[in-house]
Amino acid sequence: MAESMRGLHRSHRCAEVTKEMIGNEVTLMGWVQKSRNKGGIVFVDLRDRSGLIQLIFENGSIDEAGFEKAGKLRSEFVIAVVGKVEARSGAVNPNMATGEIEIRVRELRILSEAETPPFPIEENSKTKDEVRLKYRYLDLRRPDLQRNLMLRSRVATLTRQFFAQEGFLEIETPMLTKSTPEGARDYLVPSRVHPGSFYALPQSPQIFKQLLMCAGYDRYIQIARCFRDEDLRADRQPEFTQIDMELSFVDVDDVIDVNERFLAYLFKEALGAEVSLPIQRITWQEAMDRFGSDKPDMRFGMELHDVTDVVKDCGFAVFKGAVEQGGSVRGINVKGQAGMPRKKIDKLVEFAKGYGAKGLAYLAVNEDGSYKSSFAKFMTEEELSGLVKAMEGEPGDLLLFAADKTKLVYDVLGGLRLELGKQLELMDKNEFRFVWVTEFPLLEWSEEEERYTAMHHPFTMLMEEDLPLLDTDPGKVRAKAYDIVLNGNEIGGGSVRIFQNDIQEKMFEVLGFTKEAAYKQFGFLLNAFKYGVPPHAGLAYGLDRLVMLMAGADSIREVIAFPKVKDASCLMSEAPSEVSEAQLEELDLEIRHKE
Ligand code: AMO
Ligand code: AMP
Repeated sequence: MAESMRGLHRSHRCAEVTKEMIGNEVTLMGWVQKSRNKGGIVFVDLRDRSGLIQLIFENGSIDEAGFEKAGKLRSEFVIAVVGKVEARSGAVNPNMATGEIEIRVRELRILSEAETPPFPIEENSKTKDEVRLKYRYLDLRRPDLQRNLMLRSRVATLTRQFFAQEGFLEIETPMLTKSTPEGARDYLVPSRVHPGSFYALPQSPQIFKQLLMCAGYDRYIQIARCFRDEDLRADRQPEFTQIDMELSFVDVDDVIDVNERFLAYLFKEALGAEVSLPIQRITWQEAMDRFGSDKPDMRFGMELHDVTDVVKDCGFAVFKGAVEQGGSVRGINVKGQAGMPRKKIDKLVEFAKGYGAKGLAYLAVNEDGSYKSSFAKFMTEEELSGLVKAMEGEPGDLLLFAADKTKLVYDVLGGLRLELGKQLELMDKNEFRFVWVTEFPLLEWSEEEERYTAMHHPFTMLMEEDLPLLDTDPGKVRAKAYDIVLNGNEIGGGSVRIFQNDIQEKMFEVLGFTKEAAYKQFGFLLNAFKYGVPPHAGLAYGLDRLVMLMAGADSIREVIAFPKVKDASCLMSEAPSEVSEAQLEELDLEIRHKE
């Protein structure tokens, strides 16, 4: 039977009660974590989002009926208690913030009873993800998720505070917008008023924020929900949140400057962590050459070495052939791992093949200077020592090589480097290592579409000195685009935008749009530019990824209240779901069931 809380007001959250309050009376409300009935005395741990506190019910301190009720308390009952703060009668619990005190209860009300939950509500649950997500409202009671969501709220608050102080305006952009197929797949929403027409949910507020710059708002910020119908991974959800911004009358350095100060402020205020400024910058090319990745984890070394020139004429056909085909040969030096058992090396070879490599050549430099290698027999002593030298190899080192098209070599060695970094525990979990990656290529060749596509988006400005290359060698043009990377994760990205109509039209031309097609899709932006447009630039963070890293979580699902699973469904609400005939009728839609 549920009792009323009439006449009671919660005075504190559980963990807000301190030993300085001993002797005071408090009114607490929350969930029963556990209860232990020791005959004449009942102990209960009471939980709310602040933490736990111990309640003590003793015959005499509470009336007969109240004591009887206390005996019935079970996990997850919601209760209200009034009682006095006392020093612990039993042993102090050093693992509990409120471990030195307890509440001697004089009044108890059971506000809501609870069935036994399908899994225990506790830290570090071992429960299967599917069960957790089906009962997300219970999962969300767990202290680790509560901490994550409280951190997320704090990050949002600090973000608004910082950017407001910097003169940014918070402006909302529409959720029902126009489909612009450049980028990921859109989520579509059918229009009732315009049968056969669809809105798209925004992949980002990109075009609208540029229009706000045209309209003179000069510094815009929004914590914006974005939707992308793409394959899910640990760091990807179909709907996610960006901290999205745009600034007028600025260039790359201005955007970087305000964002570095933001990151330093955020990490200091939310985590007490120092971010030393300026944050290191490396170009995209340097990131690829040194780390095989455009989002390098710079907490450890094991950098790539380019040995193409050293092996281009050697006797090993795999190396020589790759160079002849226009590819390259690169390697990583796994320090001190020459003794790695053959089985483990074979696993690394399989791992490399997972990235599309045809193989992985290895050379272990034994302590006595001899070699253990999959290819040494094809090379002369001189060639081998030249190779080891180029790899800065010393006795005890394990050298791993990939030979292929350069893009694949980067992928394979970049992936391998991370894998080995994890296996050998080379990353410091407590370190926050930021890096700006700049000068991304403007365009990417799409084998599938047989045309160039924009690496970032079609409104990204190129580096002025590369302008002539747009006609002669578009693949070489560098963009004024930058990503902010934290511990090997892309947490944000942005660019300086094209604000000159002639360059924008040229860009569409290179992307294979006719002028009509470009105007049909982006006309409202191109037209706006005819009426006076300031130079502008911007950036967007993935808020979920940022909070994930700040929380030390390993999936963005752990920092999103109601996330979706791999097939983009919600296990709790069972979305997406079929709709009624009547709804379809109204939208003038018919479902064509595929065989
Ligand atoms: P971009 O597409 O790089 O840039 O997105 C910005 C940041 O959003 C995060 N992100 C995601 N997070 C979770 N799930 C996803 N599916 C997902 N996709 C992206 C990433 C990424 O760095 N309009 C531009 C920004 C700009 O140029 O100002 C944009 O959307 O952390
Ligand atoms: P094979 O001559 O195919 O037996 O290969 C000899 C060694 O070279 C094996 O260790 C292979 O894993 C490795 N290997 C084969 N192809 C490549 C490649 N493209 N890059 C690096 N190593 C390779």
